[in-house]
Amino acid sequence: MPLTHTRDLFAKALKGKYALGAFNVNNMELVQAIVEACEEEKAPLILQISKGARQYAKPVYLKKLIEAAISTSNIPIAVHLDHGDTFELCKECIDEGFTSVMIDASHEPFEKNVAISRQVADYAHKHNCVVEGELGQLVGAQFDEGEAGGSFSHGGHYTHPEEAVKFVKESGVDSLAVAIGNSHGAYKFKGEQHLDLERLKAIKKALMDAGLGDYPLVLHGASSVPKDLVSEINKYGGKLGTDTAGVPEGDIEVARRTGVTKVNIDTDLRLALTAGIRRVFVESPKEFDPRKYLGPARAGVRELVRHKVKDVLCCAGHAFD
Ligand code: G3H
Ligand code: 13P
Ligand code: ZN
Repeated sequence: MPLTHTRDLFAKALKGKYALGAFNVNNMELVQAIVEACEEEKAPLILQISKGARQYAKPVYLKKLIEAAISTSNIPIAVHLDHGDTFELCKECIDEGFTSVMIDASHEPFEKNVAISRQVADYAHKHNCVVEGELGQLVGAQFDEGEAGGSFSHGGHYTHPEEAVKFVKESGVDSLAVAIGNSHGAYKFKGEQHLDLERLKAIKKALMDAGLGDYPLVLHGASSVPKDLVSEINKYGGKLGTDTAGVPEGDIEVARRTGVTKVNIDTDLRLALTAGIRRVFVESPKEFDPRKYLGPARAGVRELVRHKVKDVLCCAGHAFD
């Protein structure tokens, strides 16, 4: 099966009211674990590659790993550039055959963000590639400064509904990553904080009211940072802080029902892989065959992804919609 377009995947996900998992990859074990999990669960899949992943593994290795995954599985797989920060990087990936790229110019003032995103969208659309843009800053819930906050969107660091409409119309991007209190990594919230799901609803409604239809929204920083994985890592010698915190699965559930179509997960994969490796290192300290610790770690990632697609994103069983 050739690479799939996120355009097709989004249309089906919006219709079926499920979300697509966009999982970050940078090595063979991650690619295999994710693809096998989605194959078992018959889930459509977005594999995403960051600039750092390209630097770590070299683009051609990742390309070949994904080709191998596609040739050994039946599920639809799209390949997406995660957080492309320049037109040049996005162009490079489009020219390499990525079916989707993200241009993340969210650190720029609004007009500049629009201009860079427009440039990428124009080039991508000529080459049959889908574009994700971002408006607002993924700074986390502790930085909610309300309307008087930063200058990235009228909502301060968070995405403002009316400005989201203007951004989408002027930039021509096909989906929008929103800032609603989400952030990357394993330390997302202080205490009992949540995503600003009311803002998410308002963004969705504003886009709908502006004639943009059931417009696909993207949730970055969607790892849940499971306590059992953190405990496992620490039990086997890790030193993760007591203040690790992720997005509660209930928040993802509401986000999915509100119209978030693509859900980005990286940190949870890293935690599962690390927990598996640490366990073998401690339980079998004489072991030094990489297959003996990477194998169980890969199996842990596979189980995590199965749980995500089945119980959280609800895209299991939708590969052949
Ligand atoms: O958004 C960040 C992703 O988790 C990718 O992280 O830049 O370390 O590859 P990275
Ligand atoms: P997490 O750090 O929550 O996994 O987010 C990953 C992400 O947003 C990749 O773009
Ligand atoms: Zn992200």
